[in-house]
Parts: sequence; structure tokens; C-alpha cells
Amino acid sequence: MDRLSFLSRSSSSLSSFLSVEEKFLLPRPAAQARRFRVRALLGHYFYRRLVLWAIGFGFLLYVLLTFGRSGPQSERIHDLVKFNQDGKNNNGKPAAVYVLKPGETVETPIWHAGIPHWLRFKHLDGFFVGLKALVPASEYRPEHPRPAGQDSPFPLTLSYTGLPTPTPFIPQPDYTSPTYTAKYHEVQPCYLDKENKIPAPDLYAYHGVVQGQPEPMIGSHSLLGLRNDVCFDRFGRYGPYGLGYSFDEGGVEVGLDTENTGSEAVWARSGKVNYDGMDWGDAQARCYEANKKRFADANTGKDTQSQSQPAPTTTAGRNTDRSFFHRERQKLTVPRTAVVVRAYVGFQWTHHSVLNFRAMISELALRSGGEYQVHFLLHVRDDNEAIWADPLTVQRVLDDNIPPEFHSICTLWSEEQMRLIYPGQFGHSFSNPSFGDIHGVYRSAHMPLQHFAMSHPEYEHFWNWELDMRWLGNYYELFDRLGKWGKKQSRVGAWERSAKYYIPRYHGSWANFTQLVHNETKASGRPAVLGPVSFPGRQPLRSELAGKTFLPLACTASGADPASCGVGEDADFISLNPLFDADNSGWLFSSDVTGYNASLPLPPRRSAIITAARLSRRLLAAMHEENWRLHHNMFSEMYPATMALHHGLKAVFAPHPVLIDREWDLASVDAAFNSGRDHTAGGRGSPFDLANEHNHKGTSWYYHSEFAGLLWRRWLGYAQHDGRGPNGGRSGEGTLKGGKAEEMRPDGSGRMCLRSMLVHPIKWEHPSELEDYV
Ligand SMILES: *[C@@H]1O[C@H](CO)[C@@H](O)[C@H](O)[C@H]1NC(C)=O
Ligand SMILES: *[C@@H]1O[C@H](CO)[C@@H](O)[C@H](O)[C@H]1NC(C)=O
Ligand SMILES: *[C@@H]1O[C@H](CO)[C@@H](O)[C@H](O)[C@H]1NC(C)=O
Repeated sequence: MDRLSFLSRSSSSLSSFLSVEEKFLLPRPAAQARRFRVRALLGHYFYRRLVLWAIGFGFLLYVLLTFGRSGPQSERIHDLVKFNQDGKNNNGKPAAVYVLKPGETVETPIWHAGIPHWLRFKHLDGFFVGLKALVPASEYRPEHPRPAGQDSPFPLTLSYTGLPTPTPFIPQPDYTSPTYTAKYHEVQPCYLDKENKIPAPDLYAYHGVVQGQPEPMIGSHSLLGLRNDVCFDRFGRYGPYGLGYSFDEGGVEVGLDTENTGSEAVWARSGKVNYDGMDWGDAQARCYEANKKRFADANTGKDTQSQSQPAPTTTAGRNTDRSFFHRERQKLTVPRTAVVVRAYVGFQWTHHSVLNFRAMISELALRSGGEYQVHFLLHVRDDNEAIWADPLTVQRVLDDNIPPEFHSICTLWSEEQMRLIYPGQFGHSFSNPSFGDIHGVYRSAHMPLQHFAMSHPEYEHFWNWELDMRWLGNYYELFDRLGKWGKKQSRVGAWERSAKYYIPRYHGSWANFTQLVHNETKASGRPAVLGPVSFPGRQPLRSELAGKTFLPLACTASGADPASCGVGEDADFISLNPLFDADNSGWLFSSDVTGYNASLPLPPRRSAIITAARLSRRLLAAMHEENWRLHHNMFSEMYPATMALHHGLKAVFAPHPVLIDREWDLASVDAAFNSGRDHTAGGRGSPFDLANEHNHKGTSWYYHSEFAGLLWRRWLGYAQHDGRGPNGGRSGEGTLKGGKAEEMRPDGSGRMCLRSMLVHPIKWEHPSELEDYV
């Protein structure tokens, strides 16, 4: 069934959809209706994994729930009380701090040996409180986790005197400031239109935090340099890109069906931008052209690495004499980064997803004067499509699959193409649980990215990104701060810190965490990793054969302060989940390793769930060479991190803020998320073990998270089942909460305003998509 017919009948305010939308904004509906959906579903990398793992988890849950329901409710509560008196659970581990007081009711009465631990923590409510409870950051008190001695902010006493006005949120440097212009070339503003009349808009934020909103339990805003004293509502976030106004005005109509008090403020300065006929490829090209002199000329092979020390040598053929600063008229040039969004044939585009990528391009590429550029790498599944020979075929694929405004930023690829680029026999795989082809996107998602990087010498770094991720905030702030944070990190202990979830209220400051990890590494008796690892059968890259190393001088020179090793060096790999030791971890794909000597042990491996990450050109070059020359390969989520490990590249896990939907005590968060060997997220007992992954269900960032979508859709203004109920809370269960009527109630708190965060997976957004999704 095609999406457009749904949208057209979903609500009266959307009734004008069909005519305009089918023609101009989304791909041809006929092509979408034609598609055989089940095949598309199973053919795709993430869906297939989802299905595979869902079967596993479903079975587990079935067993648990069957047991859990076996006794009457009172008995189970009794169990819980007894459990706490004992202070032990069945595994003999100490119970978490959780005391059931007399008369207190348990929201999730299922408690039985083996039931997921977290199901007994009560759900948190503070996420869903609206703008009327906005307070200055200095008065903010989180519902959870609360500093010792601080009272609960609930029940809230609101002294609401009208909505504050949101203001433009600009995380880019002040390009016109004397400090900036003294150091860097001038930045020319960029425009949406050819006539240079419509500047790229700014999004809006509210100053303050909604009282009682829970804090992220994992990761930290302030550590990464992300603002935590502002929040974003849907209109401030997406209003500048078309949310909340009609097709006639050049918007996308969505959001008109939600509560919208005071939303006009976000269009006060710029007006409602008319996106009719938008061509984002052209806008990015004009922006780059106007700002060309800010960037090193890729063709000279002299690019910038504004490092505080000589740049390390690189892989064969590139920039072996990279200079510390590339100065041109005494001004520094800026390295460029590509954001490569992995699109695929068959993806059901919606107006919400269009908004998301408009925002991404505008914030990252246009508002940065071309520092970033957004591309879609479009996977064409049908190997018989003549996508290199025939421009008409390419156009047809684009017409059928990509909204017209993004056509000019698409690069098409197919698996057949990867067989051509990486020919020859890859040899023995230690395991292949997905039964996938070695050139298939499921097992080798990075092959096309490597090829993309090799054919785009103008970029220094590449973000691999996915269609079902959202950043609630300004994309420039996210990517810029992650890059800067990665650059600041020392290489000393970096692999060990990256192997562990950082829980600030539990671990203390980052310095405390660093010390703790150092202590734990010492106690484990395992040597810390610094530089390339050696293992039986290791084969060097050509650059290594030539005697070069990826380590900066400060790591190898005698007399240098060891702690400064890597400080000021751009990270080659920035992941958004821990870089865990895959060995013995119980992660399903941990031995999907190909082309290594089968009579030797598996090589050491690191992996990060979710392939969203930043990869440097030299990391991608190493992966490329290992693929084509050595015929080595590993499962998609393990390959980049492991190549960085083997060759001594700088890799970090950036602890971005992650919310959890329930009131876990912090010791339990640590016990569940750092449950692996030596208090890490890797090795035996890993949280990524198939049997432990359920712990991530209530987080805002995991491939099978249920909370991410729920929270996101509530924030968008749509009522959602709250997932609370006797079964412990599954998505689609519980009471319908939120949405227009509730947000508009005079005694309600209005629409939600959240601090910046990543959410994944977002499989659907508008309620009309739901029946399409399930
Ligand atoms: C963190 O480190 C500081 C300074 O070394 C110390 O005073 C404090 O007790 C530590 N906190 C924790 C939670 O370890
Ligand atoms: C690490 O070990 C040192 C020395 O034993 C100790 O003083 C320090 O408190 C420990 N730090 C942490 C965070 O565990
Ligand atoms: C694989 O390793 C074994 C054991 O070290 C060795 O005898 C053999 O020659 C190796 N095979 C190849 C193809 O290198």
C-alpha cells in the first residue's frame, strides 16, 4: 500500500496533500506501490538483522513472559519483596538498590527469576512535560538521576506566565568576528536560491530546560561541548525547513495537525521559506564555489591538518609530506568533511524525512560555508540496472526513489560494482551467521564508502549516516563538537575508555573515569593498546612495509610526554557506541572474519554496534587496501574499528547523551551496560551479547530501541501508546498519551522541548505511517 493514500486520508488538514505532493515533493508514488514489500524488507541490511534478532529476542521474551505470568500478581510482588530482603538475585549478584516500601505499588508486577532486571524500574515521566515548565538551567532539577540530597521536582508547581520566545541557535563560529577572520579566510554566506536572495535559515531554541526532565544517564552534553542549557521544540527545530506550514506557502504541511501555540516566532525574521523547486546539490555547489579559498586544494595533495604537531605519515600515495598548517597568505585552511547518508531503493520517503535532510544540509553545508557536504549513497539493489551506462536509467531510479530536491546529491552504487572493484577470492570465513555474500551490503557496508572516499579526494573525513537517525538539535553542533572532542583525546588509554559506557553520575568526571579505566586495565592484567597490535599472521599495509607509521611523533619520540600522544590529532574513527572487544562477546557476528589464516586464532577485533561513525580518509584507505590487496574482510560493524586497531589509527567512542526511559539506579546501569569482561562492554558477558541486548530497549540510541521512536513521535506532537502496562511495557501497548488534545489542555504543560540528543531507530513518524510500517 502506498504511503500517499494514507496521508491523504489521515486527517482533514492533510487533505490537500495528494495533488501537490505526488508531483513534486516525494518520489513517484506509482513506483512505490508497485514494489514487493516483503522482499524489500528482508533484503535490507538493517531490517534483515532486525528480523533475525527479533526472532531471537521474541523467543526469549516468550519464555520469560510465560514464566512471569505463571503466578498471581500478589505472589509476584511478594517475590519482589523477598528478593530485596535477600539482596541477591538468582545469579548470586547483589541486587540493585531498590526498596519496595509498604503500600507502594509496582507498576510492572511481572517479576520472576530471569525476567529482565530493568522491567521493575518505574517509567520516568519528566520527558513528556511541556514548554510551560521551562526554567532557567540554573533552576533545573532532573527527575532522575538526582544528585544526592536533591528532592524530586514532582509534583511540579508551574508559575506559567506565557511562553518565552525562542531565539536563533547558532553553533557555528562567528565567522565575522576579528578572532575568526584573523586566523581563517573569510566565509561567504550561502543561499538556498541561485539569485542569492534566501539565506540558509537558522533553527530556533528555547533558553532553559523543562523542569524535571530526566538527565541523560549515559554520556554527557558538557563533556562533548554540546549546549545543555537550551531545548528544542518541533517548530524551532524544523519550522525553518517547512514544518508547520502549507504546500501553498512552500512548506510540507506536516505539523499543522499538532498543537502550535507561539510557533509563529520561528518565522518572524526569515518568513516562511518557500522550498518549491529546491535543488540541494546546486545550493551546496554554489556554497563551495563561493568559499573555495577556505579549503586546501585537493589536487595538490596538500590538505590541512591543523594539528599541534607534525601530522603522521599516511597510506601510500597520499600526502606523505603533509604540513602542520597549510598556510596561504597566513590564513589557515579548513579540512572538509563529507556526510554520506546511506540511502537505498525502496525506502519510503515521507515529509518528515525530507525535513530532516533539509535541516542536515542547511546546517552542516550551507551554514558552514561549505566545510561539510552532504551526499546520498544510493544502493541500487537490482544488479541488472544499467546505472553506469545509461543516464536515463539513472534518472528513472532517482525519480522512483528519491525526492527531486535531493537528486543532485545522489551517487548510485550496486553490489555488482563492488565485485568489480574488489575482485578475487576472499577465502575462508570463520563464520557467516547471516549467510550473506562477501560483497553484499549487509556484511560489507563499507565497501561503497571506501570507493566513494577514493573517488573524492577533496574530503578528509567521512560520516557514515543512516536514514532512520535523527539529531534533535543542530547538526553542525553535533558533528563539529564530536570532531573537536575526538581531536582533544589522548591516545593513551583511548581504546580502553572507548570500550566502556560512560555514566557521569556514577563514574564522576571524565578525569575520574579516565583514572578508573586506567585502574581497571591494570587490574585486568591485559596490556593497554597503543599503536598497531601484533598477532599471529598479521600482514602489514604497503605503507607499513615502507617503514611508516600512523602514530604521531609525540607517541614515538624519546623525551616526549607520553600523555600528549594523539592530543591534537584528528581521530580516524569516531563511533557512537562503545568499541567493544568482540572476542567471546556473544555478539552474533563476532567471528564473521574473512580471509585470515584458518589454522591460526582469530585476529583481535573491536566492534561498534550501529555503523554511524566518522572515518578518516586514511582509515578508509587502509580498509580499501585490506579488501583489495589482502582479501581480508569482517562484518560491517567490526571492520572499521578492527582496521584502526590493527594499524594503530586513532579511534574513540564519543559518549554522546543517551536517555533511558526508566528509573534505573546508576549501579544497575553500570552493571547492565558495562557487563562484559573487566567491567567493559566487551568480552564475555558483553551488553551486546544476544541475551543481554534487551537492556537497550529503553534507551534513546540502539538499533532495536523502542523508546527512541516513542519519545521522538511524542516530541513531534503525536499521541503514542506509552508502553506501560502489565506486560512490562512493549511498544504499541499501554495508554495513548500526548498529542494535540493533551498538549492543548489549559491545565496541561504544552508541547515538549528536549535537549539535544541522537535518536535511533526512527522507522516512522506521522501516525498515518504506522499501518504501513507494521
Ligand atoms: C574524582 O576525582 C576528584 C579529584 O581527583 C576526587 O576528589 C573525587 O573524589 C573523584 N570522584 C569520584 C566519584 O571518583
Ligand atoms: C585508582 O587507583 C589509585 C591508586 O590505587 C587510587 O588512588 C584512585 O582512587 C583510583 N581511582 C579510581 C577512580 O578508581
Ligand atoms: C597458516 O598458518 C599455519 C600455522 O602457522 C602455517 O603453517 C601456514 O603456512 C599458514 N598458511 C598460510 C597460507 O600462510
